[in-house]
Amino acid sequence: MKLNRKDLLDLESLSAKEIELILDTAVPFKKLFTQSIKKVPTLRGKTVALLFCEPSTRTRASFELAAKRLAADTLDLPVPFSSIQKGESLIDTGKTLEAMKVDFIVLRHVENGAAELLAKNLKVHIVNAGDGTHEHPTQGLLDLFTLREKKKTIQGLNVVILGDILHSRVARSNVWGLTTMGAKVTLCGPPSVMPQDFQKIFGRSVKIEYDLRKAVRGADAINVLRIQKERQLEGLIPSLEEYRENYGLEIKKKGWLKKDCLILHPGPMNRGVEIDSAMADGDRSVILEQVTNGIAVRMAVLYLLAGSTLSPDLK
Ligand code: CP
Repeated sequence: MKLNRKDLLDLESLSAKEIELILDTAVPFKKLFTQSIKKVPTLRGKTVALLFCEPSTRTRASFELAAKRLAADTLDLPVPFSSIQKGESLIDTGKTLEAMKVDFIVLRHVENGAAELLAKNLKVHIVNAGDGTHEHPTQGLLDLFTLREKKKTIQGLNVVILGDILHSRVARSNVWGLTTMGAKVTLCGPPSVMPQDFQKIFGRSVKIEYDLRKAVRGADAINVLRIQKERQLEGLIPSLEEYRENYGLEIKKKGWLKKDCLILHPGPMNRGVEIDSAMADGDRSVILEQVTNGIAVRMAVLYLLAGSTLSPDLK
């Protein structure tokens, strides 16, 4: 089966079959990482441009490694030193990269819909690496991959997404991906950062629970979101101490969880706020495995998007 798409912009529009195809394709790529040569020639001659207009450690490095492990060339455009600072529009920057014959643009941007805007205006493949509060599809996919690897299936899992749901693109991609794959999702966090239309959008497979103890009872996994500290200044989050007490995943609350409940976090973590070190580094945590899996999943995405344009000998 082929992924008949030019771009990856979101998980909302992906079918269960398409998600499964990406996850299945990532499996052999992950196996490569245990070999001394972690590279295949699949995307030799292709160029992946990394256009990150917002800070990133994991996603940017992960896409660069994914491209390099597929033998593609990478072009990292340092945005603070680019003509974006002189007021060049996103579309003009994209068209400039396209004129240089790059094959992919991996875009992170502060505005919702920025990746879709580029996708509509350019012929090159666009991969959304996080746009505003909209979606972060490859984060959603790597979370799904990690859950499937650990739990064998996503169908029927009880997954809690914990934290500032309102501003989280990771939460949105997770909710779309998890519900499409048949998981039951509980959103937990302070009412001030809980979008009231979530249940309406996603239907009965999404529950909202403001009490952490009740939310995590019976959960197979908890995906802990980063608290964006600026939300405190906006008055949306109580003091960080109060947040930690009510919604922080702390070792003293471990007894509330099932013995095999997995702990995920997209990173970067605020240790001592949304999660404490004992939980982040404990036996239930799969946080660093998520990072490893991210490369395999991004390799799969690049490989599958390129599918239609790969020369036959490299397929
Ligand atoms: N998870 C995630 O998007 O992390 P970065 O901001 O470091 O890329």
